[in-house]
Amino acid sequence: MSAFNEERVLSVHHWTDRLFTFTTTRDSSLRFSNGHFTMIGLRVNNKPLLRAYSIVSANYEEHLEFLSIKVPEGPLTSRLQHIQVGDSIIVGRKPTGTLLIDYLLPGRRLYLLGTGTGLAPFMSIVRDPSTYEKFEQVVLVHGVRQVDELAYHDLLIDHLPTHEFLGEMVASQLRYYPTVTREPYRNMGRITELIQTGKLFEDLQMPALDAANDRVMICGSPAMLRDLKHMLEARGFNEGNTTTPGDFVIERAFAEQ
Ligand code: A2P
Repeated sequence: MSAFNEERVLSVHHWTDRLFTFTTTRDSSLRFSNGHFTMIGLRVNNKPLLRAYSIVSANYEEHLEFLSIKVPEGPLTSRLQHIQVGDSIIVGRKPTGTLLIDYLLPGRRLYLLGTGTGLAPFMSIVRDPSTYEKFEQVVLVHGVRQVDELAYHDLLIDHLPTHEFLGEMVASQLRYYPTVTREPYRNMGRITELIQTGKLFEDLQMPALDAANDRVMICGSPAMLRDLKHMLEARGFNEGNTTTPGDFVIERAFAEQ
């Protein structure tokens, strides 16, 4: 059996000239956990050209959704950005990754810290009822350069809290904190600074990070992962992985493609 399924593009939405989203059909045999990534791509000169993408859609949804940047010289995204409804996409049959609530020890609060396309795995995690069963509070922090890069802002603010099945849990347990670094916005600054200065916790009216109660997932650029990992380790948090659960888990946002 092939390692890939051939899917069809169902919709494409361009957030900015650097960022877009698309949905595809989903083979009924594809299984994944919320937070997983898989290889996806296009056939170029009859050969598959693939990159890792976190799955934005929740694992109970009938379609698949992905969030991508557009890199003008990127082998895949320079082509992928032109996909249209009806086009074919190759999707790996073996999703995997470390950003699973199963790889975190029990705790009271879950912090999901993402920059840029690092938001993608968290969109599936905040739509998973198990997330709200395992944690009393879930804080989703999304850091971007410009306001128009706050993908899914309206879904998180307007639609999820009134969602037929998830609405009640989202409204009472999820806090969304979007922050922008390169133009004026209601919340400004890098996630690292917001944690270091305590501004994030002041704004949310929550206690400062503490390894006894808080669990953290991080997804972003290599520099962002490095900085946040150091900050957490300095506060006594231990990193978890697919074999040993911990206080935090990290995954690189699969961007520069
Ligand atoms: P900044 O504008 O100060 O570089 P990118 O689009 O480059 O992935 O960046 C997404 C967001 O991540 C931007 O707001 C950027 O801030 C921020 N960022 C970049 N590097 C780090 C880092 N080491 N720690 C925290 N945030 C970072």
